[in-house]
Amino acid sequence: MSTLKNDLLIRALRGEKTERVPVWMMRQAGRYLPAYRVLREKYGFFERCRTPELACEITLQPVDIIGVDAAILFSDILVVPQAMGLEVQLIENRGPELPQPIRTPSDLQRIRVPDVEEGLGYVFDAIRLIKQELGGRVPLIGFAGAPWTLLCYMVQGRGSKTFDEAKAFCYTQPALAHQLLQMITDTTIAYLKGQVAAGADTLQLFDSWGGLLGPEDFENLSLRYMRQIVSAVREQVPTIVFAKGAWHSLEAMAATGAAGLGIDWCISPGMARQLAGSRVCLQGNYDPAKLLSPISVIEKEVKEMLDAFGGRGHIANLGHGILPNVPVDHARAFVDAVKNHRFAS
Ligand code: CP3
Repeated sequence: MSTLKNDLLIRALRGEKTERVPVWMMRQAGRYLPAYRVLREKYGFFERCRTPELACEITLQPVDIIGVDAAILFSDILVVPQAMGLEVQLIENRGPELPQPIRTPSDLQRIRVPDVEEGLGYVFDAIRLIKQELGGRVPLIGFAGAPWTLLCYMVQGRGSKTFDEAKAFCYTQPALAHQLLQMITDTTIAYLKGQVAAGADTLQLFDSWGGLLGPEDFENLSLRYMRQIVSAVREQVPTIVFAKGAWHSLEAMAATGAAGLGIDWCISPGMARQLAGSRVCLQGNYDPAKLLSPISVIEKEVKEMLDAFGGRGHIANLGHGILPNVPVDHARAFVDAVKNHRFAS
């Protein structure tokens, strides 16, 4: 870690004072970049994930092109269900599809907690290569999906606005749901430890569908498993928990021992700070659709956002992933606006 030339992100996560606010963007390695679309023409999605040279090239693109303060591993949360034995396809313009989702006790027999070296060793290879190619320019963020969000896909079998079948599964077969969540948790802990051993400097858990649950269900179906994961890795690297829409549980999420909490744009920085307490670093929360605004508007709003977070204990980011139709110069304007901001002292 001491070899990082830019360690703003890591220091912010440790609660240290930094000369400026670090900035990166969720889903920064992706389709809004023409350089990514070139590789997308030539190789299938999971081929890009499984080939360390391609994953490395894509991971570095936003560092080189946009100038973010962190790289995030190019991969996907759905490589974990794959390694557990489920088929996952990524269909053009339709998103992920799992043709044989989990619905019954016998479906659970088809999957397992895999040996991560065997099933996900290609990710660790990619991380080692990325660390080498980064040469300490910026930290590398490893990641995994939160167990609840992975259950959503593994049971529903595809994307959904409500994930009604996944929720019905949990409400009608709770013992089975908890068995599945525990299997995902065990796999994820081994997977994230492997990412750290390979060189990841920090980790983010993506609970993209945490906001579909009320506070009690969120505790029961999501947070108790994320707590296990954070406990297992927090001694090694700082961990960021991003549960989109689950602002009601910011206090409980801070109590997991996570170093950082991601927030979306539906809560104000001030209210998030009040709920999360003073210890934890907050990450966010520009509305990704607002990157479609004129650059002058982006610059003005980024300043307002930074001032609202107050400069300390903040990582500038979007409130969810960058959209594919964002012009590259708008993404760069977002990052530059953070880098150029000066706080009134
Ligand atoms: O942040 C990064 O740039 C690193 C790479 C990354 C991807 N997916 C690459 C990807 C990360 C961190 C993810 C996380 C992910 N994947 C999440 C959680 C974050 C979020 O956005 O909520 C989820 C829910 C998924 C599952 C997934 N993967 C979906 C729903 C889709 C299709 C919709 C979409 O965004 O295209 C994917 C495909 C995917 N994962 C792409 C990329 C770059 C697009 C693939 C392509 O068409 O080239």
